[in-house]
This record gives sequence, C-alpha cells and structure tokens, in this order.
Amino acid sequence: MNGKSLPVIKVKVVVVGDAGVGKTSLAVRFTDNSFIQHYKQTVGASFCSRALDFKDKTVVFNIWDTAGQERFRSLVPMYLRDAGIALAVYDISSHKSFENVESWLLQLQQYGPRDLKCALIGNKIDLDDLREVPTQEGQLVAEGHGLYFEETSAKSGEGIDKVFNDIDPIEV
Ligand code: GTP
Ligand code: MG
Repeated sequence: MNGKSLPVIKVKVVVVGDAGVGKTSLAVRFTDNSFIQHYKQTVGASFCSRALDFKDKTVVFNIWDTAGQERFRSLVPMYLRDAGIALAVYDISSHKSFENVESWLLQLQQYGPRDLKCALIGNKIDLDDLREVPTQEGQLVAEGHGLYFEETSAKSGEGIDKVFNDIDPIEV
C-alpha cells in the first residue's frame, strides 16, 4: 500500500447462452462464492456485482445475467446496450448448447456496442465424464471469432475468477 487510492472503473457485463448452461451459477459463484444445485430458471434477467483489484485500478463488474429461455430472448438486446463485456456461455456436456453459441454471438454482434469485449465460456467442466464438446472445439470457435476462451465450473469454482482477471476491460 502506498496510500494512493486506485481509480475505480465500472463495467457492465452481460451473460448470454442457452437455458441451463449455468449463467446464473457462474455469476453467483463469482459474486457470492456459492453454488446452488437446484435449477431455477432466470426470469428476464438478474443483477449482481463484485469489485476486483487490479494492479492499477479497481474494477466493479456489474453483471446482468440474462434468461436463456426462448421466450425471454427478445429482451437481450436491451441489456446489451452500454455493455463492456459479454460472456457467451455453453455447457460442455451439451453439444446443442455449443451449436447455439453461433446465434448468441450474432446477437452480440448485432446489438452490442462496437467495442464490446466478448468471451466464449465452456461451463460444467466438473462433468468431464459427460463431455460432448472437446476443449479444442471450443478453442477453434473462439479463435475463429477472435474471442477470449475459458473453460469453467461454477460448481467447483474452477476458472471463474480467471475469466474476470484476464479480461481487462479498460486500460488506465
Ligand atoms: P437460465 O436462467 O434458464 O437461462 O439457466 P442458467 O444458464 O442460468 O443455468 P443455471 O445457472 O440456473 O444452472 C442450470 C443447472 O445447471 C442448475 O441445476 C445448476 O446447479 C447446474 N450447473 C450450473 N453450473 C454448473 C457446473 O459448473 N457444474 C455442474 N455440475 N452443474 C452446474
Ligand atoms: Mg439463469
């Protein structure tokens, strides 16, 4: 500590992806360090927040966790307005959720700000026995779209903090 206070930056994070891939679980793990086994679908969207200290700044991540169910899909563009970071999440044990990532990425491109930083997240790596999406397949799609890529488990916590530490939203 040198007595100087760090600049505080706020960034809006929007989490998208199919229903049940673990968007809420990821947000809850990051902000509350807890996990809920029981599935309760998100209605509309939910909000949570956490601040992380970086070398030269404090970043407040204001997270909008959207609902993946089809009937809420029309709401997503509204949340993407003013977003700094978007996480497109799939479930590594569901190839279908991975295939649908393309349509989520299209939404981000269409409705997100020009400088939106996008990341592709393969969640539920604790379910390796049930894996349907090889890591390399995720990596290839991420590379193809120029996205940051990480595999996570909201259940064990693996990879979650890394996502937020690695995506440096703004250089001060
Ligand atoms: P919607 O709100 O409907 O869009 O779903 P969601 O993407 O928010 O999924 P949610 O976080 O509610 O998780 C769905 C189910 O998957 C729940 O039963 C969670 O406990 C479970 N789940 C989420 N993340 C993980 C994980 O990393 N590992 C395992 N094993 N289960 C997980
Ligand atoms: Mg949810």
